[in-house]
Amino acid sequence: MQPQAPFDSAHFANPYPTYARLRAEVPVHRVALPDGSPVWLVTREADVRALLTDPRLSVNKAHSGTGYKGFTLPPALDANLLNIDPKDHLRLRRLVSQGFTPRRVEELHGRVQAAADRLADGFAHRLTIDDTADLVTEFANPLPLIVIGDLLDVPEKDRRPFSAWVGTMLAPEHPGQVAEAVESIHRFLLDLVALRRARPGDDLLSALIAARDEGDRLTEDELVSLAFLILMAGSENTQHLISGGLFTLLEHPEQLAALRADPALLPDAVEELLRCAHPNQMAIRRFPTEPVTIGGVTVPPGDTVLLCLASAHRDPARYPDPERFDIRREDKAHLALGQGMHYCLGAPLARMELRIALGTLLRRFPDLCLAVPAERLRWRASFRSHALAALPLARSPEVPYRCGLAGRTGTVRLVGDAAHPVPPPDSGRHVRA
Ligand code: HEM
Repeated sequence: MQPQAPFDSAHFANPYPTYARLRAEVPVHRVALPDGSPVWLVTREADVRALLTDPRLSVNKAHSGTGYKGFTLPPALDANLLNIDPKDHLRLRRLVSQGFTPRRVEELHGRVQAAADRLADGFAHRLTIDDTADLVTEFANPLPLIVIGDLLDVPEKDRRPFSAWVGTMLAPEHPGQVAEAVESIHRFLLDLVALRRARPGDDLLSALIAARDEGDRLTEDELVSLAFLILMAGSENTQHLISGGLFTLLEHPEQLAALRADPALLPDAVEELLRCAHPNQMAIRRFPTEPVTIGGVTVPPGDTVLLCLASAHRDPARYPDPERFDIRREDKAHLALGQGMHYCLGAPLARMELRIALGTLLRRFPDLCLAVPAERLRWRASFRSHALAALPLARSPEVPYRCGLAGRTGTVRLVGDAAHPVPPPDSGRHVRA
């Protein structure tokens, strides 16, 4: 097997050149993952899109041959939507989907905005004290954790540890850490379910426990696994897209300026960020249940297939000038939230959180800039998730502006608004109206 995808630190920081090379060579490559397991990597958009909904590809590990390693999860974490057959999938998805309809999500708007405002206050405070602040720690990581933690009524003290264990599981510093992280997650979820069972509330987890206890609609393993998937999926990708999204905007000042000038472009900007900067590089691994021919190559049953979403999004056969980040791009379709029966359950919530998070940051901090050169940013050591480990930001001393009507340019020290007044001059903060 050729080492076609390097999966080294250069790749983690910028995976797109590798994808471009692989995409141009052949549609499907046999590559070795860092743990040595062989997979078929599919890189072209037309193939990725078709295979996402191909019933011959199963997400159920029971269909995997001997080559797949992946995570070794106890049954109580593994009986989730991303590892089961269509019949059980439909039953479980129906049970949880009521919690994530666009209407239910819209009802959360005020709470998400309030959480974003609170975190922005803390971020501003940290900037004032230290001159620089890490957006990941202060804002991007906690926001989705607060939102999904509140939905499932997870005690606040447990949220950061949960997020840290998931981070370790997905991108361990050494492989030995994974089993320990999985064990901690498992124990935490069993305790959480026991706690909610003893003291039910009107949260989603209590509703799922009631569904379990009312009949045979949910096994105990399915219940715990669902809580695991919702907590993990609800916090992981969104946090990385908040930090990666802001980074992408800072790297494209003309796009950032257009967005600041017309905040109505925010939903479009979020869709373009989902195409260009979404963290989850691959869809969940899939296993053919019968021979499947992809671009002339026949993949046998039981082999592992990885559909590379991030590569599909940069395929010139699908998107004109795909490397260009353009928030006004007309064709906004993408696969970042999946497609078909596994389409992201949290898509309306993810979109709302991204709009609120980025909108709040742009409104509150018109003068942010990178505190270190982009080449020195640390990225997670993961081929699955293109994610910043930290995003140190500072305030630029002066903010360039263009006066729309007169067309004048210059620099300006900024003024506040009623909700966010400018602090005293010696505090070091300056806010644009
Ligand atoms: C920007 C943020 C997000 C991205 C990019 C994202 C992406 C995805 C993708 C690509 C899939 C399909 C995986 C596959 O078919 O292989 C998926 C599934 C899923 N996502 Fe998300 N997601 C995000 C946020 C969320 C949130 C906030 C939740 C909250 C609950 C969530 C819950 C789920 C669940 C439960 C599934 C499995 C659905 C199923 O199998 O039926 N996701 N997500």
